[in-house]
Amino acid sequence: MNVFQRCINPQCRSTFDVGEILHRCPTCGALLDVEYDWDKLPTPKKLADFEKYWSERSNPQRFSGVWRFHELLPFAPLDQCVTVGEGQTILQRSNGVAEYVGAAAGSLYLQYEGMNPSGSFKDNGMAAGTTHGRLVGATQAACASTGNTSASLALYCAASKSMKSVVFVGSGKIAYGKLSQALDYGARTVQIQGDFDDAMARVQEVSKKTGIYLLNSLNPFRLEGQKTIMFRVLEALRWEVPDWIVVPGGNLGNSSSFGKAFIELKKLGLIDRVPRLAVINAAGADTLDRLYNDEGLRWNGGNVDNAKIDAFYAQMDAENRRASTIASAIEINRPVNLTKCLRALDFCDGVVRKVSEQEIVDAKASVGANGFGCEPASAASVAGAKKLVAEGVIGRDERVVCILTGHQLKDPNATVAYHGADPAFFESVLGKRGVATAPLANRPVVVGNDIDAILDVLR
Ligand code: F0G
Repeated sequence: MNVFQRCINPQCRSTFDVGEILHRCPTCGALLDVEYDWDKLPTPKKLADFEKYWSERSNPQRFSGVWRFHELLPFAPLDQCVTVGEGQTILQRSNGVAEYVGAAAGSLYLQYEGMNPSGSFKDNGMAAGTTHGRLVGATQAACASTGNTSASLALYCAASKSMKSVVFVGSGKIAYGKLSQALDYGARTVQIQGDFDDAMARVQEVSKKTGIYLLNSLNPFRLEGQKTIMFRVLEALRWEVPDWIVVPGGNLGNSSSFGKAFIELKKLGLIDRVPRLAVINAAGADTLDRLYNDEGLRWNGGNVDNAKIDAFYAQMDAENRRASTIASAIEINRPVNLTKCLRALDFCDGVVRKVSEQEIVDAKASVGANGFGCEPASAASVAGAKKLVAEGVIGRDERVVCILTGHQLKDPNATVAYHGADPAFFESVLGKRGVATAPLANRPVVVGNDIDAILDVLR
């Protein structure tokens, strides 16, 4: 058996067949990894070996920005891998955003995952997750979501005809761009009177009771797909390793998968050094920041202090503290991949920061003004990079890659509230969250239906 699932807890390390449908280790309850017996698999000798697939773009799996790296996530036969053309994303240097962040010209890059079919990085994981679901014969798949996972699941199920989708969302909690996708792609959409964490708890119960295949990032196969974001970053840098990867942190699937990617690349001798990882919380959803920076929680060789986490959550509930942020995609109290993220931070000499609502919306405006555009949660990466440069943690000349996780059109309310000319709308969307000003606003000009007046304002 060259591919298997394995518990990440060093005290347990139980292994399971790749064909089993599991979300946590049945023995100890810890998270699971997909692991490979690399010695028995045809692994590349160097990363540049992947370039040979660039000329095979007529093969849908090689066109895919996920499956052209199949040798690094070989849990299913290539011709059975689901693809709808994900991963045609770009890494682009942005001197405008570098200036905003306080970094030297030429040193800041944006990895634009909003270019994916459903408009977010989730499609990388969904290509892998639906592949596994189909392999094990699932006919229905479900997820809880702050919006993007549900959009992605709905699209993959509809486009690949692999299974039917059921999505659980917190009522009134997700941006309309995302809700519209789930509905349009035909997902059975269940709006729960609660938030993401409630939806996450319920979907796990539903999946246990009904056998519906779970496609949240608890699913280790999904995270295999998300590793490829890092492979494409390296590819775009001609296989050079950047100094920093900066990523927003919500349910912590992305950061976990990035860490696993670098652990494996290093083990396989495909990279000789590892970038540092910065995971950025919104201040209104700061579980990781508090646990990591205030409570000193660490991976600790896999012996994570679970009692500390339990006490933290008990206190959170006692105080009735609930996540609340304009970055609704990362409005999460209990990130399910917390321990895997700690492993990634440990391996990548990571740091964690939180950024305010004001910092998020200003960073978002800077990204937009420089021709990319992203949703609020994505801008946390840029706001975090700015903070870390100001602190001197990121050097001005270091090569930094900020991951833009979701497309600009996902949440138009946040954008229009920021740039628009309606103070009441600003107040209802941003002001109530503590955003005081919009220094980078590009205000629309209100003018009468009169040619002279119009020419006047254009002068
Ligand atoms: N950015 C965006 C745009 C997201 O949609 C998410 C997560 C994140 C960042 C955080 O990523 O969970 O891997 O740390 N959205 C999930 C969802 C939770 O349901 O769509 P993470």
